[in-house]
Amino acid sequence: MNKRSVVAGNWKMNLNSLEANDLVQDLLSLKHHSARVILGVPYVYISSLARLTNGTNIEIAAQNCHHKEKGAYTGEISVNMLKSIGTDYVILGHSERREYFGEDEALILEKMQMAHQAGLKVIYCCGEPLSVREAGEQNDYVEQQLRNSLLKLDKEQMQNTIIAYEPIWAIGTGKTASADQAQDMHKHIRQLVNNQFSAEMAEETSILYGGSVKPANANELFAKADVDGGLVGGASLKAELFGPIIEAIIE
Ligand code: PGA
Repeated sequence: MNKRSVVAGNWKMNLNSLEANDLVQDLLSLKHHSARVILGVPYVYISSLARLTNGTNIEIAAQNCHHKEKGAYTGEISVNMLKSIGTDYVILGHSERREYFGEDEALILEKMQMAHQAGLKVIYCCGEPLSVREAGEQNDYVEQQLRNSLLKLDKEQMQNTIIAYEPIWAIGTGKTASADQAQDMHKHIRQLVNNQFSAEMAEETSILYGGSVKPANANELFAKADVDGGLVGGASLKAELFGPIIEAIIE
């Protein structure tokens, strides 16, 4: 495990309050205290889970935030609200937010800047659809995503950002990018960070792979030089699946 290593879970819109609590208790009782773990949980559980995990290796992420500081935006949640209840991270740019809620790179950039302004750290997601992968244009596609948002951050904001490469065709489909496909893209992304910021920044930035990560493929993926861990959806909902994925990062 190197200092960039992180395993993040993305619960999406799953688990009731009791189940959420039980899952975190189970994760806390596992023996992987050295791994950095981030759990992306529904807003309504953040307060209690932030208290439960305080002082442990588990940090709590929101799965979204609003791009304005405050105001008449019925039903929305601001970055300052999140910060005030113990949130550490916010996941932004997830393909489901892009697809179902029409979020584009400009909005994602606004959200990232707002989050950083409040002192939240960000997990920024990028990744190509299947048609782009089949045309072999995934590097250009992801580069364009990054150029329109992530690479516009300033140095301090970038220092507080984790990148998650999540090819859309691999999310929730059971299809995983091969370890080599993940490595190729992660190397490309790290090079872009290097060019825009510095070699040191590129060296320090965590780049996670997401898309059907499970115990059976975690070891191979995490063994790649530029794959610093995973952003895990379905398999983060069960301690017996998420536990071994966390173990895979320690090895
Ligand atoms: P998955 O989801 O692991 O269920 O494919 C990953 C994600 O959407 O972050």
